[in-house]
Amino acid sequence: MSTHIGAQRGDIAPTVLLPGDPLRAKWIAETFLEGARCYNEVRGMLGFTGTWQGHPVSVQGSGMGQPSMAIYVNELFRDFDVESVVRVGSCGALAEEVGVRDLVIASGACTDSSMNRIAFHGLDYAPVADFGLLRAAVEAAESRSEGPGFHVGLLFSSDSFYPARPELAGEMVKYGVLAIEMEASALYTLAARHGRRALAICTVSDHIVTGEETTSQEREQTFGDMVEIALTAALG
Ligand code: ADE
Repeated sequence: MSTHIGAQRGDIAPTVLLPGDPLRAKWIAETFLEGARCYNEVRGMLGFTGTWQGHPVSVQGSGMGQPSMAIYVNELFRDFDVESVVRVGSCGALAEEVGVRDLVIASGACTDSSMNRIAFHGLDYAPVADFGLLRAAVEAAESRSEGPGFHVGLLFSSDSFYPARPELAGEMVKYGVLAIEMEASALYTLAARHGRRALAICTVSDHIVTGEETTSQEREQTFGDMVEIALTAALG
């Protein structure tokens, strides 16, 4: 067992889907996996392993924000030999062309977090997705006859859900940022540090500029579409 994950080596598959919400992890396991078994209940941060189309896969809650996510991802890479992590989360749209219910497949992520600045002694680092996972997710999204629209580009990974200066995120739109969430940047940096693969896909739950929001029923439908794309990209 690692510090925060109550599993044995071998209990967790080489490929992990990573929702922020542990109850989403449970829903994914119950909805998409065969023979899913819960391997972690420490702090209620549920984790499950089962199979999808015969391939072993795990689903692990990460909590909200980069510090919480980084605890789980560090331990998955270091103590459980995980090879690929695909975040399946939600985001708030910033760019006009991104609508609620769309997906954002993150080619890279900017951040206001100090985690990278500390790690790189004040130098900037450009956290990017694993290209193979990115390409596979785009192909999986393109091949669906119906389902959500999708965009490929930059996320802004913020440390604040309620930022003191919200106008700063708006500024980022001028530089191609599509949407805001709270985890992708540190996830991509950790994958690079450990020589593993990572991708973040997010459904747009709300639009920061227009104020539009999705209903919980719509959120469940587009979340399911996103999970299928993530599983196909990582295992298909
Ligand atoms: N995830 C969904 N909406 C968000 C927002 N407005 N800010 C940060 N993360 C989010």
